[in-house]
Amino acid sequence: MDKYENIELKALFEVSKVLTSSFDLGKNLYSVLEILSKALDMRRGSIFVFDKKTEEISIVAAYGLTEEEMKRGRYRIGEGIVGTVIETGIPMFIPDIEKEPQFLNKTGSRPNKKGISFLCVPIKIEEEILGVVSVDRIYADEKTEVDDDLRVLSIVASLIGQFLKLWETYKIMEDENITLRAQLKERYNFPNLIGQSHSFQAVLKTVMKVAGTDATVLLFGESGTGKELIAKTIHFQSKRAKGPFVAINCAAIPENLLEAELFGSEKGAFTGAVKRIGEFEQAQGGTIFLDEVGELPLSLQPKLLRVLQERTVEPLGSSKTIRVDVRLISATNKDLAEEIRKGNFREDLFWRLNVIPIYIPPLRERKEDIPLLVEYYLKSFCNIYKKSVTIDDEVLKVFMSYDWPGNVRELANTIERLVVMTEINKIKLYDLPDTVKGVLPLKPSFSGELKLPREVEELERIRIMDALPKYNFNIRKTAQALGLTERQLNYRIKKYGITIRKGINLYDSDN
Ligand SMILES: Nc1ncnc2c1ncn2[C@@H]1O[C@H](COP(=O)(O)OP(=O)(O)OP(=O)(O)O)[C@@H](O)[C@H]1O
Ligand SMILES: [Mg+2]
Repeated sequence: MDKYENIELKALFEVSKVLTSSFDLGKNLYSVLEILSKALDMRRGSIFVFDKKTEEISIVAAYGLTEEEMKRGRYRIGEGIVGTVIETGIPMFIPDIEKEPQFLNKTGSRPNKKGISFLCVPIKIEEEILGVVSVDRIYADEKTEVDDDLRVLSIVASLIGQFLKLWETYKIMEDENITLRAQLKERYNFPNLIGQSHSFQAVLKTVMKVAGTDATVLLFGESGTGKELIAKTIHFQSKRAKGPFVAINCAAIPENLLEAELFGSEKGAFTGAVKRIGEFEQAQGGTIFLDEVGELPLSLQPKLLRVLQERTVEPLGSSKTIRVDVRLISATNKDLAEEIRKGNFREDLFWRLNVIPIYIPPLRERKEDIPLLVEYYLKSFCNIYKKSVTIDDEVLKVFMSYDWPGNVRELANTIERLVVMTEINKIKLYDLPDTVKGVLPLKPSFSGELKLPREVEELERIRIMDALPKYNFNIRKTAQALGLTERQLNYRIKKYGITIRKGINLYDSDN
């Protein structure tokens, strides 16, 4: 992939991000044009929409035009280039606007038309033409090709189209004053989705907004960040809640069976094939969740793309097509941009899946959520195991400084084990698994806030608490490891009030 294509891909990612960054239509569209201008040098961009009622075409966002110029940019169907593209639905390229009589320059924004080319691409969604995107371009000193530009603009136009549809639904919802609206302004509260950090609240905000629509969602985030949980939440908050939620893990099914699994098969379609109803059909009226979509084999990607475009499936070995009314949510922990670059993932499919991207940040980037999650899981496991367990403040501190590579799943598992295994009702430092405790020596609490002798004591205490369980509370061995005499160690154990608990070592046995 050459340099230009890389810049282009980056710009497209940016575009998809800003499109859903707020629910201010004008602002989002302006940001799109700003990216086109700054990253791809497409100047004086405008987005026109077609109003079905008044049959008028007007500018909703423009970059490089004044308010006045924007107001002047009104067209009727068939009028000028913009009107023609709306009428025909075919992109147009004007190599030199000075020589093109059909180019009306109604906005009056180009006093000098010399050397300017003009590209105009329709915004279409399922054959319906919603508007056009147009940009000025100067090709003289550039190596880029018109075809490249048209391709990029077409992708941008299709993203805008999907966004405009979403916007329409949102407007209707807002007008109907669905409870959603009230909730949008407040905190986002779902009983099973815990997190008050700014970044997680932003996730919940998007979840709330998209739940009311049928928009295709792509969830990405590291393992254990809650992608599946969020997919389910979107489903159960949507009007499809009564319909099925069908989850498929694209990585778990062998490539040769995946197609039949997804789209169904007729008896005898291939050796050993039985008649089966595909998951898409089973999800009829509901939501299909394609987990680890980055693992979808290249051979199946065009087929999925077709299903998404046409909303029909064709079971293997069958000649009939079945209409499917399904909402698609997919998830990946791979960097799909990278997969596209490597040729493992089709760009066109990506743009179909990535209508609403939701990025779920890893736990280490939103540590404020840790105490809440700890509390939540402590409570729920205490319920399950009929115990009443609390945790030491120090433990919480360690939890806060640990990086949780396994994210919420690791945290939940850790707490479950602690609740199951603890014999007294308070979880202490030495109960923690070694992985989590690994952060102890690096604990940043030695920040100079305490006087030096206190810090030394703190370090001493932590080292001892860390070492004791390693030697199963054997005083002789622990003292030896720490370079103390038994007497010195016993003295310190007493001084710091450390409890000696012999017992099983939880984390050696079960992993
Ligand atoms: N914000 C949250 N609040 C409460 N529980 C959560 C939250 N996020 C994740 N979990 C819990 O963490 C566990 C992992 O979540 P989930 O399976 O949805 O992650 P994932 O992103 O799909 O992981 P993977 O990529 O490994 O499949 C689940 O038990 C889920 O209930
Ligand atoms: Mg998952």
